[in-house]
Amino acid sequence: MASLTVRNLDETVKRELRKRAAESGVSMEQEARDRLAESVNASSRQPSTSADVKQVSIAPKKSADVKRPSAGIQDEGRPAGMMTLSGKRILLIIGGGIAAYKSLDLIRRLRERGASVRAVMTDAAQHFITPLSVGALTADHVFTELFDRQDEQDVGHIRLARDTDLIVVAPATADLMAKLANGLAGDLASAVLLATDRPVLLAPAMNPKMWAHPATRRNRATLEKDGIRFIGPNRGEMAERAEAGEGRMAEPLEIAAAVEALLDTGPKPLAGRRIIVTSGPTHEPIDPVRYIANRSSGKQGHAIAAALARLGADVRLVAGPVSIADPAGVNTTHVETARQMRDAVERLLPADAAVFVAAVADWRPDGEADEKIKKVAGKGPPALSMIENPDILASIGHHRQRPYLVVGFAAETQSLLENAAAKLKRKGADFIVANDVSAATGVMGGDRNRVSIVSKAGVDEWPELGKDEVAARLAALIAERLKTVEV
Ligand code: CTP
Repeated sequence: MASLTVRNLDETVKRELRKRAAESGVSMEQEARDRLAESVNASSRQPSTSADVKQVSIAPKKSADVKRPSAGIQDEGRPAGMMTLSGKRILLIIGGGIAAYKSLDLIRRLRERGASVRAVMTDAAQHFITPLSVGALTADHVFTELFDRQDEQDVGHIRLARDTDLIVVAPATADLMAKLANGLAGDLASAVLLATDRPVLLAPAMNPKMWAHPATRRNRATLEKDGIRFIGPNRGEMAERAEAGEGRMAEPLEIAAAVEALLDTGPKPLAGRRIIVTSGPTHEPIDPVRYIANRSSGKQGHAIAAALARLGADVRLVAGPVSIADPAGVNTTHVETARQMRDAVERLLPADAAVFVAAVADWRPDGEADEKIKKVAGKGPPALSMIENPDILASIGHHRQRPYLVVGFAAETQSLLENAAAKLKRKGADFIVANDVSAATGVMGGDRNRVSIVSKAGVDEWPELGKDEVAARLAALIAERLKTVEV
């Protein structure tokens, strides 16, 4: 390698390199060369089979009693207001599954929110990712063995179990769930889980058949009764070819949000309030295998449900078919059709507020065929006769048990504000959150949104924000409006 250029490096890495180079009094290129050489030397000293590794120390060697590395590397220059886990200590237990690779990103996500992360890996996990990569990301020792009294780094499973604010198991395999549900403690991961008195969050990941197995279902019910929290699993494609269903590990950002919700000690202005939220699309069946749907991902509705829960509300989410995880701390009912969504919402009344984010299908096929409609040569396509679905927002907006605050959305591709104002009146809402969903905006399925709040008082245009930020601002607005209403 003739020369080394640092120009194309990530900004965060560049910043760190610049700092270290200044400390060592060398050029950035020299610093990069030194670090590279160090890392190559270190990795060539690693044992060749990961199963032999007891602990991998990336941080400089310290005595067993040294404090954990300081929380809160400001990864990616995250603004201070977003350092939602500042000072929090998280113990991440990584189980053996293909989803283990996502736990590497999870470590980054937790640390960029200000948390310090310490990791335990099961033997099986080390078949998928190495303690070396985990240690590089946690900047701490990676713990793998239950009995390791000879090692100066050993802190013991009891200390690991207690010296933390939350334990996250990701991926949580069927095996780890079974061990925890039955109180087994034969390895470090299960011993830590049994010894802890801290909250535990599991992010299961397994084949859909394993997830659906009665044994796993029994274990899940036991664990929930024991107060263990779950995030996911999600629906979707599996690593195995042609396998799909419920069993994919929740995405790192979803797990990080669940951690934030569990460790959140912020103000709870919505405590004691019941709020209904609808989210996602609806599916309207044509026959047993076909349906009419739309592109809604549920991201905005789920984010609103989570944001309201963070402010202390008792959130009842009615979700159409989506592939994202149920938000943490939210009671979720899953439905498929508009009529099921309407019935679920009506069963949840009375409520203090209701937020209708779902992209409900306006029409459904008039009658679902009992059998799959066959293609008959020469007969042409069947004519689909459609009838109107119930308008859930309008019926709740004019309901005798109308919640104090009714918020609707207006998904428009033209005349945004005029259409939103008309919906406000027609549907009996207090606010309409108007958003332009034309394909060019990328709102449907995307992560950002630009909305205007339309009410009798006028129009408040918000800047383009992440869907989480829109959710947080809307939750704050709802809290403000409910402040004056008696619980
Ligand atoms: N909505 C509902 N039930 C329906 C249709 C819509 O609850 N059957 C709610 C949506 O959740 C949203 C609001 O009504 O809060 C507006 O949805 P939108 O699809 O924008 O309006 P529509 O009434 O369907 O009108 P159009 O499709 O003509 O724009």
